[in-house]
Amino acid sequence: MFLGIDLGTSAVKTVLVDDMQRVIASRSHSLSTASPRPGFSEQDPRLWIEATFATLDALKADHPSELADVAGIGLSGQMHGATLLDADHRPLRPCILWNDGRSAAECRLLERRWPALRATTGNKAMPGFTAPKLLWVAEHEPEIFAATRLVLLPKAYLRLILSGEAVEDVSDASGSLWLDVVRRDWSDDGLAATGLSRTHMPRLVEGFAPATRLGRELAQRWGMAKQPVIAGGAGDNPAGAIGIGAIRPGTAFISLGTSGALFTPTEKVAANPDRAVHTFAHAIPAMWLQGGAILSAASCLAWIARLLGAPEAELLAPLGARPHAPSPVSFLPYLAGERTPHDDPHACGMLDGLSHGTDRAEVVQAVLEGVAFALADCRDALASAGLVVAEADAIGGGARSGFWLSVLANVLDIPINRVADSDVGAAFGAARLGRLAVTGETVETVCKPPQRVETFEPERGLADAYAARLHAWRELYRPQRGWET
Ligand code: XUL
Repeated sequence: MFLGIDLGTSAVKTVLVDDMQRVIASRSHSLSTASPRPGFSEQDPRLWIEATFATLDALKADHPSELADVAGIGLSGQMHGATLLDADHRPLRPCILWNDGRSAAECRLLERRWPALRATTGNKAMPGFTAPKLLWVAEHEPEIFAATRLVLLPKAYLRLILSGEAVEDVSDASGSLWLDVVRRDWSDDGLAATGLSRTHMPRLVEGFAPATRLGRELAQRWGMAKQPVIAGGAGDNPAGAIGIGAIRPGTAFISLGTSGALFTPTEKVAANPDRAVHTFAHAIPAMWLQGGAILSAASCLAWIARLLGAPEAELLAPLGARPHAPSPVSFLPYLAGERTPHDDPHACGMLDGLSHGTDRAEVVQAVLEGVAFALADCRDALASAGLVVAEADAIGGGARSGFWLSVLANVLDIPINRVADSDVGAAFGAARLGRLAVTGETVETVCKPPQRVETFEPERGLADAYAARLHAWRELYRPQRGWET
């Protein structure tokens, strides 16, 4: 038995996976996010621990014998968050999350201080990445910066609580902007540019390395006699890739979680920081992931559901199985600013094309289409780095909607596959890393593509209609940037 724990933004999801790679049970516990000022996004690290323990306590109550058999645990986590700890490993402030936009000025400062940043990390300094947040803290909360002894990404903090050791995997570390992404090691120059050194960083391991063990007391609490091994794990996007078997070039996946992403594995770094393409070390050695990340995906659906006061399922039902034409309404999904391709923390959401005749279904469809158009921008940013996406598997909560996957197939003009257990993709990938850490099997044996449940093919007329609409949709953002239209 293996456990995968995904410390997401809206929830912690824990899956129990058996030796045949079947998901035996999954439990989830929701998390809230605080926005103390516009553009700020924070979480109290204690909430992650409470939520994780709640999922494991629930599994213990319902599946005690399976839990007793767990040999390996893998962790996946929301990337980029800055968790600052004091000398006693206590959080000094709430974690500043991946969708926090406060550090735009610090990004410019960091690139000036460290001219090799893009060449070393494969990324552009963007708000949301970890390093600029530390410059922000140094400037605005100097006492906290001075007291900081350890800087951890969210799932490394969770591991610290689970095992007592500070360890991070290279894929998640890529989102810090302190990783030399080709050498897969901390960059001393990068750390120095933010007033830090290796002493502030956790030990680095590969994703399937047996990094630590679950602490004895916790193992007893959950009845795990063997004190399971905890693997290095991965950031949620690389973990998702492991879950759907996107381990070699030619595969790609779309994630429709709180954030959205389109990533493809590469055998060497193919960076394109100018278009805000993200470069991450993959969770398996000598592989990387290149992709686009958008800051709002399934969270756009949650937003419109909140606004209209109706559950998401009730909003989706009238749309039917597939779209017949683009909605007359257009939506920019920049509810938390945007990364790929704009790198604009001040980008705003927008509804365009409203009339007295506009109904609820047209607005909801527009929201789903807006996210798909933003992923088309990611696809084009990847293409300008020479990476062509011909087909993609969909994961994350949004992948439950066949209508949305059909929109994506037509907007991107590629087949989109729905795979088994797609909504627990990152947690499932983490469980696979937990298995690899224990069994020593090959990556190819374990990381097979899961069963494809359904493929959504583009339809010529509809794909053409969406191509024309994409063109018009892009124009909506231009005035925000002050570009000439
Ligand atoms: C990726 C990113 C998000 C977070 C949260 O760059 O910021 O996908 O990992 O899911």
